[in-house]
Amino acid sequence: MQLDIDFVRQQFVQLNDEPDFVFASNAGGSYVCNQVNELLEHYNRHTRVQPYSNYKSSSEAGAAMDRAKQDWAAALSIDLSELTIGPSTSMNTYVMSQAIGDCWRSGDEIVVTNQDHEANNGVWRRKAIEKDVTIREWKVDPDSGLLDIEALLPLLNNKTRWVFFSHCSNLVGTVNPVASITKTIKAHSAARVFVDAVAYAPHHISDLKALGIDGYAFSLYKVFGPHQGVMYINQSIRDELVSQAHYFLSGDPGKDFNPAGPQHAQVAACAGVLDYFKLLHSHHFNDSNIEMPQKLADIHGLIQQHENQLAAPILEFLDTHADVRLIGKATVRDDDRPPTIAFKPLKQSSQKLAQQLQDTGIGTENGHFYAHRLVRDLGIDPDDGVVRISLVHYNRQQDVAKILTQLDRALN
Ligand SMILES: Cc1ncc(COP(=O)(O)O)c(C=O)c1O
Repeated sequence: MQLDIDFVRQQFVQLNDEPDFVFASNAGGSYVCNQVNELLEHYNRHTRVQPYSNYKSSSEAGAAMDRAKQDWAAALSIDLSELTIGPSTSMNTYVMSQAIGDCWRSGDEIVVTNQDHEANNGVWRRKAIEKDVTIREWKVDPDSGLLDIEALLPLLNNKTRWVFFSHCSNLVGTVNPVASITKTIKAHSAARVFVDAVAYAPHHISDLKALGIDGYAFSLYKVFGPHQGVMYINQSIRDELVSQAHYFLSGDPGKDFNPAGPQHAQVAACAGVLDYFKLLHSHHFNDSNIEMPQKLADIHGLIQQHENQLAAPILEFLDTHADVRLIGKATVRDDDRPPTIAFKPLKQSSQKLAQQLQDTGIGTENGHFYAHRLVRDLGIDPDDGVVRISLVHYNRQQDVAKILTQLDRALN
């Protein structure tokens, strides 16, 4: 079975705005599916009041928000009390740096990477410095940008409190095997594990209990949804964390780590992302009697197959081009290479190449994409950075054909 790409594209009204335009900056923020826009519009037109009171529009507003939270908890296989929906992942990790870091003591240790986006990096480092905590850096291979578990082992010991890494870097575009890395961390230390999945979730929404992690975060505006950050914090470590809520709300799940307070309409609209995936599932599998995590696994199987077909020819072209340095793995063979593809042109600036692609109607960009440490440690000037072509499942083979034609022209 193949992903029905025409059906997929009918769910995104923005794809019809400019039919010849190739949107290849999805890792910066995806298009929004119709199901999300409908919920947002409904909320703003009909239930735009303070939610959770006992008059009609207010109780409907609260019910819409509750449905979104319940649906997401069920989709991720977590308890409702373990879910926070906050303004963004950067804000969620900033808040968690206070909640987690305020318990650190002088002499404790943490591990961060030089592969991560700064949202899963600087906040922990700053807190560690404030608390006299030793920062150990799990470094990427300076040529490929890949992380190797062997390089992590010497960094773990009985003082390690937390390890922070990503499910997939927004530039290396290669999946870090979270379950096995977490198992190794737990076998060699008592450390907790926090994973940034912002660049992974647009390609695969995970069953979180199966990963064995303690914290996990991703951003729905890159997963076809509203500008909100979804975060999981394992219930069993709650006592080790400092609530960031108003004192009279402290201990209230969902509020402890969201001092911004909920953005009502946006929270309600989060349900639309799962409505979209449910629709995709019923269209392809015609079996409604299964739980949401299994539906997501089924549909992501089709998405991965399609995304592999998008990524493979671009990776091959870039990997074999003499004037290009490709970052990350060069093949999709192991099913661990989403089509988030970054490269450095060797004979011209990234800025010039990106501009040439943009001039032909390909929406792409250059820069460090807030993975500043990574770009710097790969030996690339962060100001010019890399060119990033990031596709998702609504991209088509004809998009890839246009990208390859224009890349060939721009590079030669
Ligand atoms: C890998 C990764 N982590 C974290 C973030 C930050 O997410 P947000 O924009 O929701 O703060 C981004 C944003 O681009 C990202 O790509």
